[in-house]
Amino acid sequence: MTIYDSICRLKSPYDKKTLLWELTNKCLLNCRHCMVISGELFADMDCGIQNVVSLGIERVVLSGGDPILHPDIYNIVKTLSGTCKVDTVLICSGMRIDNEALRLLHDDGLKSITISLDGPCEEIHESIRGPGTFKSAVEAIKLSQKYFQTSASIVVLPQNHHLIINIIEMLQELEISSVSINSYIPVHGNDELNQWVSKYSFAALREQITVFRSENTNIKVKTSGIFTDCKYSCPAGNYLWYLSADNNIYPCPLAQSYKILTNTNFQLPYREKCFALEEMLERLSV
Ligand SMILES: C[S@@+](CC[C@H](N)C(=O)[O-])C[C@H]1O[C@@H](n2cnc3c(N)ncnc32)[C@H](O)[C@@H]1O
Ligand code: SF4
Repeated sequence: MTIYDSICRLKSPYDKKTLLWELTNKCLLNCRHCMVISGELFADMDCGIQNVVSLGIERVVLSGGDPILHPDIYNIVKTLSGTCKVDTVLICSGMRIDNEALRLLHDDGLKSITISLDGPCEEIHESIRGPGTFKSAVEAIKLSQKYFQTSASIVVLPQNHHLIINIIEMLQELEISSVSINSYIPVHGNDELNQWVSKYSFAALREQITVFRSENTNIKVKTSGIFTDCKYSCPAGNYLWYLSADNNIYPCPLAQSYKILTNTNFQLPYREKCFALEEMLERLSV
């Protein structure tokens, strides 16, 4: 059996066909690890809806940039949840999230919100995300719980890798029911972080999480990417699609950086970071 065969026999990390939709590449922040090339693009709503229908999408994750900055955000949520009847969730930094925004998103049918939190305190979170961001994230988590099932998302970075359990404990105190821990995806030009992740061993952290899980059942701790030690089959182009703010569809966000669709500038500087690259290429016949 080849490695490809073994990977294909594994389970997908997604239970539903999922579209990760970058509604805009505009953002109020400039996080140290960010993979988004920021700009002023706003996705076309009709293009997104067409993709949802034609790909048979069952779940849409609205992302960005900052998805809340899209001028049609409420209409998009309403159409996806109401007309298309897909589970619609949103991931954001917590900036500009107030009662009014949450009430509108709730009334339009949004199912849940994930808020990014990268530190257990202002000092660490803001060393990654910039001034004023910790308070907004924590306030957004508290407010959002009044309306939605709320989860948090953490990226493991040099600034916070030793404090991941502290962040989870803080989220536990805020009564969050789930948190996902993600590995950093190398970004062109971010040499310091790219070198760090290529040398970083997730073994100790994985062990800490295993112990934490065995002792705590009131918060679900999910891990993904290279962090999982390839327990799953690659979902790209099968269970996962990525729609960029310039309205191009890709099998995953990594494929956008690597220009897999056009295949004219096919470079894989971080090939080893895509845990099931061969499987994805075979599936897409690239
Ligand atoms: C691209 S952001 C868009 C939504 C929103 N601006 C936010 O920060 O939550 C979505 C998630 O991707 C994470 N992210 C950004 N760049 C990343 C990278 N290079 N590797 C892994 N995750 C990254 C962010 O920390 C965030 O949790
Ligand atoms: S808030 Fe999100 S999109 Fe904006 S810079 Fe940070 S990670 Fe990137």
